[in-house]
Amino acid sequence: MNVVTPQDFSSEADWSSARAGVDLATTKPGTPGGIFMRRFWVAVHRSQDIARGEAKPIRIMSENFTIYRGASGAVHIVDAHCPHRFALMHLGWVEGDDIRCVYHGWKYDGTGQCIEQPAEDSSFARKVKIRSIPARDYLGLVFAYFGDGEPPAFPPFPCKQGNAVLDVWVPEQVPCNWLQSYENSMDEVHVAFTHAPGGSHASLAVDLPKVSAEETPWGMLRHGVRRDGKIRVSLHYAPNITRVLVPPRTGMDGVGGWREIYFSFTPIDDENHLWLLSGHVDIEPGSAAADEYAAKQAEYDRSVAAARPAIEVARDLIAGIGRFEDTRHPNLAVVQDVATQAGQGRMVRRDGERLGRSDIAIIQWRKILARELRAIADGKPGKQWSVAPSDIVPTLGF
Ligand code: FES
Ligand SMILES: [Fe+2]
Repeated sequence: MNVVTPQDFSSEADWSSARAGVDLATTKPGTPGGIFMRRFWVAVHRSQDIARGEAKPIRIMSENFTIYRGASGAVHIVDAHCPHRFALMHLGWVEGDDIRCVYHGWKYDGTGQCIEQPAEDSSFARKVKIRSIPARDYLGLVFAYFGDGEPPAFPPFPCKQGNAVLDVWVPEQVPCNWLQSYENSMDEVHVAFTHAPGGSHASLAVDLPKVSAEETPWGMLRHGVRRDGKIRVSLHYAPNITRVLVPPRTGMDGVGGWREIYFSFTPIDDENHLWLLSGHVDIEPGSAAADEYAAKQAEYDRSVAAARPAIEVARDLIAGIGRFEDTRHPNLAVVQDVATQAGQGRMVRRDGERLGRSDIAIIQWRKILARELRAIADGKPGKQWSVAPSDIVPTLGF
């Protein structure tokens, strides 16, 4: 295992040398970063937002696709455009588990094979095939595999064992590069400041965690050690998922308590990304507590729907409209994180950053990413990642 501790990191040269020659942020097709992320299942959509018989356009890692759910309940992802005359596939009809183009009625099955062309000879259809991406539902999200060959094991990471209520958040579309947010999820210190307005950073900041990070066969383990020796453990699954314990959302008034979340940061393109979150709340499904939680959740969802979108509020703060300190919103943590992440710029050269000891988890992840991307650039196989065992879980340490 490659462990980085505060003692190992003494200068910014460490990080800049790790990055030399590779772009860690881009996931465009054919780039080392794009090839790397396409080796994993990535979350692309909230499951409940794509109903049976429904088709929608999606953009993931700078490529456009159509997502649809067939009559069987299976989710499918195929090319955005029909190869006949390039009409958009999502404008058409879902028939069974197939999709029919709106323009001249060509029909494709879930593997992308054309199976009907109403105005053509029957022999033509079998010569036409569109791209089809393996896709499956897990934890209330649709995961897809955009790489070549057979996809890796599914599910791509384990979840909380035992009874719990699944809570899937409304996705957010964040106007900056995905890596900014993934790195933010590794940044335990920012919580005491970015999320303090309304509270007190002075009281939180008296006991900031000492952060360390450790590479694992499946990603990275992060530890935050408090003054009294208590350790908070958080997990980062390669290439873009953070599993961590978090407090109830701002507007939930504490109902449901702390929860375990699985947080995917999925590139739409290099300058935009999705936050796709689901979590497990420690409540017995079907219990009275679960009903109470569902009622509070519905009330919370209504308050979010009635509020200005969090991204718009964050955009105002970035533009200097309103004060960060005074901002109130049912999704306040989202506003706060987006303002700090997107406020850095859409896609930022990071050579001039002044990283310190507290940034060790970010430095460690960049080193891992740089190593893997350089291997891809050099035509080498890179690390064989494995699925994490289910007994390594996040802990709060208090
Ligand atoms: S463009 Fe799709 S059938 Fe013609
Ligand atoms: Fe945050």
